[in-house]
Amino acid sequence: MAEKEAAPKKEKKVREKKMAYQTVKGMHDILPEEQPLWDKVRLATKHVGEFYNFQRIDTPVLEGADIFERGLGTKTDIVEKEMFVIKTRGGDKLVMRPEFTSAVMRAYYQHGLSQFGQPMKLYYEGPVFRYEQPQAGRYRQFNQVGFEILGAESDPVYDAQAIMSAFRIIEELKIKNVTVHINSIGCHKCRATYIKKLEAHYKKNALKICKDCKNRISTNPLRVLDCKEEKCQLVKAEAPIILDYLDSECKAHFTKVLEYLDEVKIPYYIDSYLVRGLDYYNRTVFEFFGEGFSVALGGGGRYDYLSETLKLGKLSAVGSALGTERIIEVMKASGKIIVPRGAARVFLVHIGDEAKKRGLALIEEFRKSGVRINESFGKDSLKSQMRVADKEQAQLSLILGQREVFEGSIIVRDMETGAQESVPLERIVEEVKKRLK
Ligand code: HAM
Repeated sequence: MAEKEAAPKKEKKVREKKMAYQTVKGMHDILPEEQPLWDKVRLATKHVGEFYNFQRIDTPVLEGADIFERGLGTKTDIVEKEMFVIKTRGGDKLVMRPEFTSAVMRAYYQHGLSQFGQPMKLYYEGPVFRYEQPQAGRYRQFNQVGFEILGAESDPVYDAQAIMSAFRIIEELKIKNVTVHINSIGCHKCRATYIKKLEAHYKKNALKICKDCKNRISTNPLRVLDCKEEKCQLVKAEAPIILDYLDSECKAHFTKVLEYLDEVKIPYYIDSYLVRGLDYYNRTVFEFFGEGFSVALGGGGRYDYLSETLKLGKLSAVGSALGTERIIEVMKASGKIIVPRGAARVFLVHIGDEAKKRGLALIEEFRKSGVRINESFGKDSLKSQMRVADKEQAQLSLILGQREVFEGSIIVRDMETGAQESVPLERIVEEVKKRLK
């Protein structure tokens, strides 16, 4: 059944109950009324992923802590403060995954995925966990959909493809005015030269920066560029930019990525201070920003060093991930109301025990024909069942009484006009199909 955009339903006042049991801080339920939006994001991910030849991968929520400690870097916010760590009874240190990329890399090696045609393109969706301070668009359990391209040369075409795949999801979901903020953070060699310059600049301005930045400049210098403190912005505005320090290979790589993005008409903005919060990146880094939203809808980059950092071998890779909650918030803000695909618009009303029994079998006939039908078998009175049909906004109700069962017929009622007609039971599925708008 085609998906329809319906006239806005009357706003229902839903009372949240204050009770002893609540979702824990930073975590949320996804209620039935929101599920169609979630389905849309998952479906768009599947469509786009499969079109570009990504295959689906699922990894466990729990992983050994060392993957993330090594992979993301011990001096990153995620590893220092945000991981949900579990000590098992056997004494193992496990972590509820704070991201997918490192876990996908683990799976790639564990299952010998390098033996198949390369690059290995994988896509995923599911929950991730970070112990962050909850605020708008920031949760402790949230979801990501993402793409990883592993085992190709460090070819800029794949950087463009990782960006494009995520961007096509955004487009498929009809989210407008999204821009890719992009930068290159070079390789180990050219980045080292830049970091020296950056350190010198921040040390010269040590009195003007916050305590955290004073710390970061010796532990994880690039992260000073992420600081949101007002006083640090002035120092940042005069900081050297990494693009001026890229070696010729990294520069050529970045130029190519931009050329490819131009070719496929993806709007970007070169943000020379974009560095990202995870240590595994090299060369291209990017984030997606929607108009009027201050938090990123997604991000990613190249991570050619991750496999070596994990002591797994040498492997070039690049990927992207979108935050599903943030994408859904933008979809909701666009104000479109979505009727669930295939929601039942036919309601079966029974009167009496025989009708209930016959009704149960009738529902199976509808199921085989792919027409969804709802009922309220637990209620006996005609009035209360009709009330449910009304609430569910059914287009047709089918009324089956003792007499109808005996005669082999059923009454079809148009819920809008109130018009009723008796139809032979053996023709009812066809009749309903004809009448459904
Ligand atoms: P990330 O930037 O940490 O990258 O997360 C990707 C996206 O997840 C963010 O842009 C945001 O939309 C969403 N997100 C992050 N934290 C939260 C939060 N606390 N609440 C709600 N949404 C959040 C990564 O995770 C990388 N693994 C992406 C990647 C894939 N790099 C290469 N391949």
